[in-house]
Amino acid sequence: MKTDLFPLLAALTAQKFSGGIFLMAALVVVGLTTYLILTSRTREEKYAAKKRVYGLRARYFIGLSVILLVALVISLRFLPYERYQAKPDQTVTVVAMQWTWKMAAGSSDQTPLEFTGSNEISLPAGKNIRFVVASADVNHNFAIYNSQGVLVAQTQAMPGYRNELAYRFPEKGDYMVICLEYCGGPHTIMTGKIHAL
Ligand code: CUA
Repeated sequence: MKTDLFPLLAALTAQKFSGGIFLMAALVVVGLTTYLILTSRTREEKYAAKKRVYGLRARYFIGLSVILLVALVISLRFLPYERYQAKPDQTVTVVAMQWTWKMAAGSSDQTPLEFTGSNEISLPAGKNIRFVVASADVNHNFAIYNSQGVLVAQTQAMPGYRNELAYRFPEKGDYMVICLEYCGGPHTIMTGKIHAL
């Protein structure tokens, strides 16, 4: 990433950035609502305020669309896919099931139900890993977090599909696997570990 061009953006994680955008948008909504409550008393005033807000809404929509379009064009070149398109050094099969992970080195012909694996695995750092992700029951989401709690890679785990996720662990350390798709009561305990060695 070109840090000289967007120093502030580079300092933020994707989660913090989207969190900040969400907060600002929420503040705008709260501000507008408060403004309406404070300025509208009679029926006529309410009608006039409604008209003003509807006019604002159109401009807000156009402004937001322009911002999103520009952000899309700018951010497209930061997509990490190209970096991992090299031949994978290692394939790892991942099966999600209520409410654990089965992971094992190599590809597998077994059905997700038959497949055996552990929710803890050691993988080499600095190598291109190709995760082949499936589900033995419902929709889950295979998400990898680094030791700072930053989401570094994720893909859906869906019944009937094998989704591929390419990732290279940049440094040695312990990474958490967390399910990011609500999959039933104990969804929050559906965690695993990857030791990058
Ligand atoms: Cu699996 Cu949430």
